[in-house]
Amino acid sequence: MKYGLFTRAAFFGVAALLAGSVSELRAEDTSALIAQGKYVAEASDCSACHTVRGRGEFAGGMEFKLPIGSIYSSNITPDPTHGIGAYSEAEFSRAVREGVRRDGASLYPAMPFPSYARMSDGDIHALYVYFMKGVQPVAQAVPPNGIPWPLSIRLPMSVWRAVFSPSVVAAQKDVNRSLPDGIRRGAYLVEGPGHCGACHSPRGMALQEKALSNSSGSLFLSGGAAIDGFVPTSLRQDQRTGLAGWSEDDIVQFLATGRNRRGEAFGGMTDAIFHGTQHLTDADLHAMARYLLSLQSHQPTLSAWHYDPSAATALQAGDASAQGAKVYVDHCAACHRSDGRGYAPAFPPLAGNPVLMSDDPASLVHVVQSGAVLPGMIKAPSAFAMPAYSGILSSQQIADVVTFIRKAWGNNAAPVTAATVEELRKSAPEPTIQKGIIPLN
Ligand code: HEC
Ligand code: HEC
Ligand code: HEC
Repeated sequence: MKYGLFTRAAFFGVAALLAGSVSELRAEDTSALIAQGKYVAEASDCSACHTVRGRGEFAGGMEFKLPIGSIYSSNITPDPTHGIGAYSEAEFSRAVREGVRRDGASLYPAMPFPSYARMSDGDIHALYVYFMKGVQPVAQAVPPNGIPWPLSIRLPMSVWRAVFSPSVVAAQKDVNRSLPDGIRRGAYLVEGPGHCGACHSPRGMALQEKALSNSSGSLFLSGGAAIDGFVPTSLRQDQRTGLAGWSEDDIVQFLATGRNRRGEAFGGMTDAIFHGTQHLTDADLHAMARYLLSLQSHQPTLSAWHYDPSAATALQAGDASAQGAKVYVDHCAACHRSDGRGYAPAFPPLAGNPVLMSDDPASLVHVVQSGAVLPGMIKAPSAFAMPAYSGILSSQQIADVVTFIRKAWGNNAAPVTAATVEELRKSAPEPTIQKGIIPLN
């Protein structure tokens, strides 16, 4: 069941009437709130981090490798011992929006509470009812954190929270800032529950996001550092490296299915779509797209991308003398075609694709080395795979072909050396499928 079945007014009426006491809810009210809460959980991507294949839904246990050791996402099922069954609604709200555990310890910001601080009281209430009444308890502990004493003392995290995470009051004030009506809902979903900035915004020295909403300026969503080897692109109106040239429908289709005429999702974006955005209503996806299209360029000096036919003309005339062109013809053109336009949405275009033109070539090199699988989605059931080339092509050949596709068809990004490819080989990400987040279908 989806949120769309219940009006917002009805939901808030129920929430206000019953003032948050789960045990007093009548059966029909509970089921409406559970449906609403399930939708909020999907809009917030909770299962991307709290559900691991082989353990129960929301039973946690996903490993996050930090420089000081590993931590594991918590079991957030209503099991009273291993999960959050003993949490009151106030304690739940504090954990999700302020990063404080029931026992008072500060959570690591791998849990995106600086964004969740923006979630409304109504959404938090529905989320709480869903986790208490709509999720199966799983009596299974998560592995103990692997951080050695004294670094395991969570005191520094309290300082981090105080400095870098907004209070709920401050966050709500920013949510309620003056915004055109057409983008208010989209701003809420992207900046709040969707926590898009957790990946797509640059981070500072203490790994804090440099901007948590568009009200703090154009660094917000201007592109983040590589996560698990993949570089989140700019979601602002940046030419070549961002969403300039994408239409509202392009963005909606990408968030609903992971594919469109401009590119295909891989890395962490596949998870964000699989667990999150594919479940949202069309109305909400359009709201998010409208909001993204309203974000001014962070790098206004970049020139617009225009298709340049010369590489295609040369390849089609049998001239593969450009650096990397021969590797491209032999290994890539069958799917991505000599004109670089691919067969969208099955095989993505490489011409004009923003992921090819960011300064950091890590995504491209990793996609070519390790391959990528886009699983089927609700509205686009076929899965597509790009083969892995690390055992087939040398580092020099990968450098050559990546250099070729970064330059051909009007793309204009800097060349990549074999030394860079060698270096990136060491940090090759595990393919998403093997990480166990996404079941193969
Ligand atoms: C990007 C990953 C990520 C997402 C998304 C995420 N969490 Fe978490 N969450 C974590 C991690 C990691 C921890 C454990 C942090 C720690 O031990 O300091 C955690 C801890 C928690 C805790 C503390 C429980 C306890 O007692 O240990 C709660 C409650 C929680 N998450 C709820 C949620 C809810 C509800 C959502 C969706 C609205 C959500 N989380 C989304 C990563 C995530
Ligand atoms: C876990 C990290 C992560 C989260 C969370 C995330 N993204 Fe992404 N996103 C990425 C990565 C990595 C890429 C680049 C790979 C690709 O194109 O799929 C990307 C690419 C995209 C693209 C395609 C851009 C292009 O130039 O091809 C869009 C659109 C997008 N994200 C929107 C969003 C929105 C909207 C949200 C929030 C609802 C979001 N992302 C949340 C990691 C993330
Ligand atoms: C069998 C068809 C096939 C072949 C051959 C192939 N690819 Fe791909 N490629 C794909 C598919 C499918 C995706 C999308 C994968 C995903 O999103 O998970 C993709 C994605 C990519 C991407 C990321 C772009 C995006 O928007 O997702 C790049 C870059 C890329 N391929 C480059 C290459 C290069 C370079 C070669 C040759 C060395 C190559 N591909 C060979 C099918 C192929």
